[in-house]
Amino acid sequence: MGKPRIFSGIQPTGDLHLGNYLGAIRNWVEGQSHYDNFFCVVDLHAITVSHNPAALAADTHSVAALYLSCGIELEHASIFVQSHVSAHSELAWLLNCITPLNWLQDMVQFKEKAIKQGENVGAGLLNYPVLMAADILLYDTDKVPVGEDQKQHLELTRDIAARLNYLYGTEEKPVLKLPEPVIRTEGARVMSLTDGTRKMSKSDPSDMSRINLLDPPDLIQQKIKRCKTDSVRGLTFDDSERPECSNLLTLYMILSNQTKESVTQKCADMGWGQFKPLLTETAIAALKPIQDKYYEIMAEPGYLDHVLKQGRERAEAIANPTLAKVKAALGYSMPL
Ligand code: TYM
Repeated sequence: MGKPRIFSGIQPTGDLHLGNYLGAIRNWVEGQSHYDNFFCVVDLHAITVSHNPAALAADTHSVAALYLSCGIELEHASIFVQSHVSAHSELAWLLNCITPLNWLQDMVQFKEKAIKQGENVGAGLLNYPVLMAADILLYDTDKVPVGEDQKQHLELTRDIAARLNYLYGTEEKPVLKLPEPVIRTEGARVMSLTDGTRKMSKSDPSDMSRINLLDPPDLIQQKIKRCKTDSVRGLTFDDSERPECSNLLTLYMILSNQTKESVTQKCADMGWGQFKPLLTETAIAALKPIQDKYYEIMAEPGYLDHVLKQGRERAEAIANPTLAKVKAALGYSMPL
């Protein structure tokens, strides 16, 4: 028996931020040697909202480089681009045809994004979770490490796989494997710096709401200096009453590798004037090695293309047979 398989991905829309890092990438890095990992830059997802064609390729490269600079090792993981492996689109179509429309209309992210887009909602936005299901199911994935906001999409993925198995498989021989979500308690929902009740997001129009992984030190300092706080004395973890305070303490705790107890004790009597410089210094120090590595990777001509080509080959070796299995179960036959 080989190692269990992990699949996860991030959209190349805008800069990656601390939410993406703490909710997803950090967890990929931590357990990587115990798994056979596939980390995908999900560029087909990036066009479900209006996008800039001139920036898509560069953003895709940048996300792949960030996977590596955050510590993903090619000895344990394949890094590849979704649009390079055509099985993703093809399986998405097959799965769309067995997915009830109301399952998709019930997705919270669809409802939220559809409201934002008003009348201009593309069908891709509705069908996006089916493409995500295809991403995961193509790799016979065991575990999918994601942030809290993707939980519902993972449940849908399991429902779609179970439905396909029920319709076209047998109990002894299921066609698709049902994956498990992996969502950590700490860092699974990093909140905005300007509103502690909303998650940190690439789509927030204000850049001051997030710390991006490539923000230079002076910008990080500015963002933390101006971030929203409260006027209660002493700092406490209290999600419901003090969302901003709780979020900032959590960031400090994770980025400085401390326990909740030690941060609770250390910060109990602090004011913002003392805590903010501490958090700033911690965030800058935590991001520095990632940024140094990122610029090193980007400066090496051809390196990233080589990584992505190798990733594509490894991905296709698993994805294509799974797609063939699904097609056969649905009754398609192709002469050799
Ligand atoms: P995306 O690109 O929005 O986010 C990528 C990852 O970052 C996590 N994340 C957060 N975690 C904590 N706090 C936050 N504020 C925060 N914001 C984002 C997300 O939960 C996610 O793990 N549909 C997915 C991409 C995708 C995918 C997949 C993921 C496509 N196919 C297959 C896993 C498996 C998305 O839009 O994530």
